[in-house]
Amino acid sequence: MKRKSLLRGALLLVVLAGVMLYIEHRARHRTLKTAATAIKNADSVWRAPDTALIPHTEAGDLIRYGRNLIANTAEYFGPSGKISHGANGMNCQNCHLEGGTKPWGNNYGAVFSTYPKFRERRGAVENISQRINDCFQRSLNGNELDSNSREMQAILAYFKWLGKDVPKGKKPKGSGIRQLAWLSRPAYPQTGKQVYENKCQRCHGTGGQGLLRPDSVAYVYPPLWGPHSFNTGAGLYRLSRMAGYVRDNMPFDAKKPADKLSDEEAWNVAAFLISQPRPAKKFGKDWPDISLKPLDHPFGPFTDSFSEQQHKYGPFGPIQQEKQRLAQNKHAGSFL
Ligand code: HEC
Ligand code: HEC
Repeated sequence: MKRKSLLRGALLLVVLAGVMLYIEHRARHRTLKTAATAIKNADSVWRAPDTALIPHTEAGDLIRYGRNLIANTAEYFGPSGKISHGANGMNCQNCHLEGGTKPWGNNYGAVFSTYPKFRERRGAVENISQRINDCFQRSLNGNELDSNSREMQAILAYFKWLGKDVPKGKKPKGSGIRQLAWLSRPAYPQTGKQVYENKCQRCHGTGGQGLLRPDSVAYVYPPLWGPHSFNTGAGLYRLSRMAGYVRDNMPFDAKKPADKLSDEEAWNVAAFLISQPRPAKKFGKDWPDISLKPLDHPFGPFTDSFSEQQHKYGPFGPIQQEKQRLAQNKHAGSFL
C-alpha cells in the first residue's frame, strides 16, 4: 500500500515536472517571438501616420495647413506667393519628398523626436522653428518666418503629428538622407556632367533652371542651379548630402533598380551640380567651433591641413584619418 502511494507520488511529480517544462518552453518561445518582432520592427524603415486619420477638428485643420505649406510652399512664399515673396519659388517638398514622409527621401521622421538639440553648425541648441528657418534662408534662399505666425505654428503642428509615434530621442531608420560610403578618389564633375545630360536634363533642363508651371507660380521640375536655386549655405551644397539624396530619389520617375543611379554616378553628378553657379550667401556665425565642421563642408578655415577643394570633392578618407588623429591627440593632451 505504502509502495503504491509512493509510486503514485513519483508519477505525479514526473507529470508536474513535465507540465512545468512545457510551460517554460512555451514562455521562452513567446519571448523569442516578441524579440524577433521587435528586431524586425527596429529593422524596418519609418512610415508616416495615415493622413486620413488627421482629425476633423481645428487642431487637425492646422496640421493639414502645415502639410499644404510643405507641399506648396511657393504658392504662399514664392515670388508670386499669397503671403509674402521672400523665397525662391521652390517647395519644401522638392527636397523633403512626399510631404516629408518618404523613406530616405529626406523625411521629417526624426524631427519631433530629436529637437531641440545641439547643432554644431549653430554652436548652440536649436529648436524646430529655428531649424525650419534655416531651410527658409538657405534652401529657399529666402527670409525667416515669424515663429508666432500661423504658418510656422501649422508646420510645427504637422511635424508633431508626423513624429507622434516615434519615441523621444530616437532617429528612426530611413529618416533624413543616407550617408553613402566615401569614394577613395575625388568625385568628378566632368563625369557627372554626362550623368546629368543622360539622366536628369530631360526634366531639370539644359541650364539646370527647371521647368515652371504655366502660371509661373511654382515649378513642375525645380531648378538645380542658377539664381532661383538653393544657396551655398544649404545642406544640399555639401557633396555627401547631394549624393545621398540623388542616389535614393533621382531620376524622379525611376521605377526599377536599374533606372536608379549607382553610388559612383550619384557622387559624380553631385559634384557636377555643386560646381554650377548659384546664389552665394555667407552665414558668418556658422560653425563657431571650426573643428566640428563636417568633412565635406567646402569653406575654410579648417583645423586640418586640407584644401577647400578637397573638402568639397574628396577624397574624404585622408581628411577623416587626420581628424581622428587630431581628436586622439587632443584627448591624450587633456590627461597631461
Ligand atoms: C533644396 C533642398 C531643400 C529644401 C527646398 C528644403 N530643405 Fe529642409 N533640409 C534639406 C537638407 C539637405 C537637410 C539636411 C539633411 C541632412 O543633413 O541629412 C534639411 C533639413 C531639414 C530639417 C531638419 C531635419 C532633421 O531631421 O534634422 C527640417 C526641419 C527642414 N529641413 C525643414 C524644411 C522646411 C520647413 C522647408 C521649406 C520651408 C525645407 N526644409 C526646404 C534640404 C532642403
Ligand atoms: C522625370 C523627371 C525628373 C528627372 C529625370 C530627374 N528629376 Fe530631379 N526632381 C524632379 C522633381 C519632380 C523634383 C521635385 C520633387 C517634388 O517636389 O515632389 C526633383 C527634385 C530634385 C532635387 C531637389 C530639389 C532641387 O531642385 O534642388 C535634386 C537635387 C534633383 N531633383 C536632382 C536630380 C538629378 C541629379 C537627376 C538625374 C540623376 C534628376 N534629378 C532627374 C524630377 C526629375
